[in-house]
Amino acid sequence: GGMSQPHRHDSGHKHVAGSADYIDDLIEPAGTLHAYLGLSTIAHGEIVTLDLDAVRAAPGVVGVLTADDIPGERDISPSHKNDEPVFAAREVTFSGQPLFVVLGETREAARRAARLAKVTYRELPPVLDVAAARLAGDALVTPGLTLERGDVVAGLADAPRRVAGSITIGGQEHFYLEGQIALAIPGEDRDMVVHSSAQHPDEVQRMVARVLGVADNAVTIIVRRMGGGFGGKESQSNLFACIVAIAARTFKRAVKLRPDRDDDIKMTGKRHDFVVDYDVGFDDAGRIEAVDAVFAARCGHSADLSRGVTDRALTHSDNAYFYPAVRVRSLPLRTNTVSNTAFRGYGGPQGMLACERWIEDIAYALGKDPLEIRKANFYGEAERNVTPYHQTITDNILERLVGELEASADYARRRAEILAFNEKSPILKRGIALIPLKFGISFTMLALNQAGALVHVYRDGSVHLNHGGTEMGQGLHTKIAQVVADVFQIDLEHVKVSATATDKVPNASSTAASSGSDLNGMAAENAAQQIRDRLIAFAAEKYGVAAGAVLFEPNAVVVGDKRFSWAQFAEQAYLGRVQLSAAGFYKTPGISWNRDAGRGKPFLYFAYGASCSEVTVDTLTGEYMVDRVDILHDVGRSLNPAIDIGQIEGGFIQGMGWLTTEELWWDAKGQLRTHAPSTYKIPVVSDVPRIFNVRLAEWSENRAPTIGRSKAVGEPPFMLALSVFEALGMAAASVADYRIAPRMDAPATPERVLLTIERLKRLA
Ligand code: MTE
Ligand code: MOS
Repeated sequence: GGMSQPHRHDSGHKHVAGSADYIDDLIEPAGTLHAYLGLSTIAHGEIVTLDLDAVRAAPGVVGVLTADDIPGERDISPSHKNDEPVFAAREVTFSGQPLFVVLGETREAARRAARLAKVTYRELPPVLDVAAARLAGDALVTPGLTLERGDVVAGLADAPRRVAGSITIGGQEHFYLEGQIALAIPGEDRDMVVHSSAQHPDEVQRMVARVLGVADNAVTIIVRRMGGGFGGKESQSNLFACIVAIAARTFKRAVKLRPDRDDDIKMTGKRHDFVVDYDVGFDDAGRIEAVDAVFAARCGHSADLSRGVTDRALTHSDNAYFYPAVRVRSLPLRTNTVSNTAFRGYGGPQGMLACERWIEDIAYALGKDPLEIRKANFYGEAERNVTPYHQTITDNILERLVGELEASADYARRRAEILAFNEKSPILKRGIALIPLKFGISFTMLALNQAGALVHVYRDGSVHLNHGGTEMGQGLHTKIAQVVADVFQIDLEHVKVSATATDKVPNASSTAASSGSDLNGMAAENAAQQIRDRLIAFAAEKYGVAAGAVLFEPNAVVVGDKRFSWAQFAEQAYLGRVQLSAAGFYKTPGISWNRDAGRGKPFLYFAYGASCSEVTVDTLTGEYMVDRVDILHDVGRSLNPAIDIGQIEGGFIQGMGWLTTEELWWDAKGQLRTHAPSTYKIPVVSDVPRIFNVRLAEWSENRAPTIGRSKAVGEPPFMLALSVFEALGMAAASVADYRIAPRMDAPATPERVLLTIERLKRLA
């Protein structure tokens, strides 16, 4: 069996040894061409001339393609808004936009040739960020959402106390270790096989079919694994797959495209940065009475997934707290920058950071421990358990979870000790914060909440498993294999998960929104159970026993008084002409969402967690260390505690990077200047907190009927890093004796921490 066991990631040893095959490791078909992209160097304008003669004439170049060479549609907007051309044809809408592709006998030849293009533009003023987009008149990439409950105007007017403010929240580059890549292999007729590093192969298939002008059944997408996706390969991979497919069709040769890291960063969408303006009413105990907030997001030049991202910012702007009256609105703003996209948590992290900002403001206004304010506002019993989108919360475990973490992290004693330390320490200042989290699980787009799987049992008893989910390092394949091994009661090594392929499981949803194991686990269990049912019926008839006398034991099947090894039993079933293959299916029950009304039950359940972080800040430089982190996180009944703890650790560190050192910076002309690790700082191993205690809330089990009563784990832990941010704020606020709220914007780079400290010193 296998469910709930801490099995290692099925490819973990291969990742470490370098023997896991990524697309660039696959053996190239003879004659493979290498593609390189030519990108726009301005953020907004019209192409006046595009002279590619020198590119074509360069040594080793086989051809050059532009928008005019696309056999089918020229647009790959996933939201069907016709705002995402494969190649800019006339208008350029961001710096880094693809203009043409060069095909060379070698990658180096194509890369050198791409530089020889002569492009002239008629430049137009670019709209680059939230402030500029608002000044320019609030052009949106998709309609905004409003969530409203109660009378917010009266709530604010009647509240004994008020706090209003604004927070700027930075974006984030995905920095998947394996960059974007695709390899297309043309087949007979107009068939095309594409190996794509993509989270959503089904969408890649539809996009490739669209640009080739063929039916979906002519295109097969294969994804063995990604070297990280983090949301950056949900829609952003489409472009690369489409370009290699167009080129492969044109030249009738295999084509591979692997952009340089700098180009990858310049071309692909990132986490949305936000400016959130808020006005909050509360009472003298810190209880919130009303929240009114506007979430303005830089979406970039096209809609892409910005609707889902900005919607999730609003549905998480309550984090763990009840608002008696609330109105939150989104402004998904169009800008002349890369099209921002999904990134772990969608807009959830931004929504929650804004929320925790006003909690922090309230605490500082009242001179109280923010944790006390949090507890006073937790969702509770009837009346206090309805979200801004009118979903009733029925699975709340916050009080127990936070209470346990508070005790195990020794929060109260350490906070008192830190306050005393700061009084005596003039230069080094410490901070501590404990923050809860609640994260809704399900896709808000209803249709995506479905999954398929395909299971074969071979005559030797080995099992082949395919499902619609993709592996990006999160351990999904290991978990789903555990589910199937459990149904047959066989060892995990007998189950082989093959590459995700659109010709095995059709119409599969993106592996995203943390739903991979919830959806595909159920579909795979369904497939395996169909085969098991057939095996039981077969054995019962053949040996003349009741169905209940057929038992699956570890690697064996007992039929009445007989016992067979699993392999022997599989061979018997084959000889008995039992169908040993099944397709499984699952759809999430009981969810609904009316976006126009901002109401429904968009989430099947919530995942909960809490983290406590302690930091030390050098107030002369703004530099800091994260000294200790304690996490208690809820994954229901874990499908695999080893993998889940890995996800929590990794998610936390990635969230910490977002809130601390990772800063995206565009210049005044809209050129992204942080497009390499030399200027864009992701966390490294030495940034891991020296004390890092991660525990699962082992007593939790999902009340919703999920696979093994587990809960999704992929994204929620990302937001546990909010406690690092608030702890840094506390250390900074100590220079003004905590009388002024720190009101730091994100990310809290050492530079920004220093500026905050200096501002607070001036105000003190
Ligand atoms: N873990 C690793 N190692 N690599 C990744 O790319 N992506 C995250 C998370 N954990 C990611 C990861 C994101 S954004 C999501 S939505 C989930 O994994 C997707 O997988 P799941 O649904 O199977 O959890
Ligand atoms: Mo994750 S952002 O849903 O791919």
